[in-house]
Amino acid sequence: LQAKMILDKNYEIAKIDERIYGSFIEHLGRAVYGGIYEPGHPEADEQGFRKDVIELVKELQVPIVRYPGGNMVSAYNWEDGVGPKEDRPRRLELAWRVIETNEVGTNEFVDWAKKVNSDVMMAVNLGTRGIDAARNLIEYTNHPSGTYWSDLRRSHGYEQPHNIKTWCLGNEMDGPWQVGHKTAYEYGRIAQETGKAMKLVDPTIELVACGSSNTGMPTFPEYEATTLDIAYEQVDYISLHQYYGNRNNDAANYLAKNMDMDHFIKTVRATCDYIKAKHRSKKTINLSFDEWNVWYHSNDADKKIEPWTIAPPQLEDHYNFEDALLVGSMLITFLQHADRVKMACLAQLVNVIAPIMTENNGRSWKQTIFYPYMHASIFGRGVSLKPILSSPKYDSKDFTDVPYIDSAAVYNEEKDEVTIFLVNKHLEDAITVTTDVRSFEGYSLVEHIILENDDLKAVNTVDHQAVAPHTNSESKLGDGILEARLPKTSWNVIRLK
Ligand code: AHR
Repeated sequence: LQAKMILDKNYEIAKIDERIYGSFIEHLGRAVYGGIYEPGHPEADEQGFRKDVIELVKELQVPIVRYPGGNMVSAYNWEDGVGPKEDRPRRLELAWRVIETNEVGTNEFVDWAKKVNSDVMMAVNLGTRGIDAARNLIEYTNHPSGTYWSDLRRSHGYEQPHNIKTWCLGNEMDGPWQVGHKTAYEYGRIAQETGKAMKLVDPTIELVACGSSNTGMPTFPEYEATTLDIAYEQVDYISLHQYYGNRNNDAANYLAKNMDMDHFIKTVRATCDYIKAKHRSKKTINLSFDEWNVWYHSNDADKKIEPWTIAPPQLEDHYNFEDALLVGSMLITFLQHADRVKMACLAQLVNVIAPIMTENNGRSWKQTIFYPYMHASIFGRGVSLKPILSSPKYDSKDFTDVPYIDSAAVYNEEKDEVTIFLVNKHLEDAITVTTDVRSFEGYSLVEHIILENDDLKAVNTVDHQAVAPHTNSESKLGDGILEARLPKTSWNVIRLK
């Protein structure tokens, strides 16, 4: 099979906001306790953070990490997690029905984020709490000194403010599972008033309002429209969340699911612009896709977990090869929408639906999805270009006209580099893609990285990386024409310089 593509340095979508390679750490399962933090582990540093995990996170070059939830934030008292550890209360954590020890809280997480070279995207509790707790928290984290909450931070050993710039106004408030679930009207009002108070404390912050928890929500996209109608002038981003699974074991349909994500992004973008027009506003609301991933493998195991334990193995999906392909396609979808999707968080980062896994008191290792995420994060910085692609197509159970090839391209002018990301979704055949790259005169092929496996269900384990990338030397670039053979069901990264 054949596909054709034209790539021109003038066909710009937008400069990529590197925060689309963000991730997420929630106080959930073994993400914090036994994941990033395990005092007593041979690799633990002086604060109890695992250095082996820090190194793996650094390999991913994660620019921003959302914290502390997630569903957990909707019943969280941030004050429980600051000050002397011996005074911190143990609480029933209602979202995941575990015991939260509060050994790690805001200050420790900010320290950890520095160790992995990330910024923090902080969420406030708009479930059980509201304006007062949020304005106190931002005074604690961002105000320099001379007031009750800022001086309390200083007394906790943090002389300088943390200056956290990005804040989520609650989490999935449209979801009936959320503690303190709200109608769009109720949420719009509390988001508006909390955002107002927070920006009075620190006008330099940016705020993310909750949108829909997934495209299947009955209130989608009215929730976004109502919320933005009320809070338009206060907020800067609207949040999108989406997880996919292959429950029916239908690979062709599963690999097409980023088309649903594409539809989600287009709908939310249109909703934002409708409210913009309605308000005669000059301000544009951008999109923060702050939870996305594959999530379904662990659903049954989670039902068997005893409630009220500490850091049980919740949401521990073991990802296979086909999951890595869909993750790659989802990253491509973000790049195709680089003009409006300015933040995105792979949910999550360690142990909980994560690219990085750990053994308690043992080793850490890379899941299959680690690789497309790493490639996109490392090579996907610059300007997103619009590839003009003609690819053969197929129909699946839920989708029609699915291109067998997904593609995105990134031009990094400073480094004089172009990277093309491609997924071949064909279950049986390789596809040769011929790309006109004549606008990149004098460039040559650096490498063609491939993630492939004969078994769509192949998984990595702590002992064996069955799914890991390799480079291929068959691809050719000559006279401005790049010819690359993409093996059946493969993730491909082609780098030119
Ligand atoms: O990431 C796991 C959970 O998924 C989050 O806590 C919640 O926001 C979403 O439903």
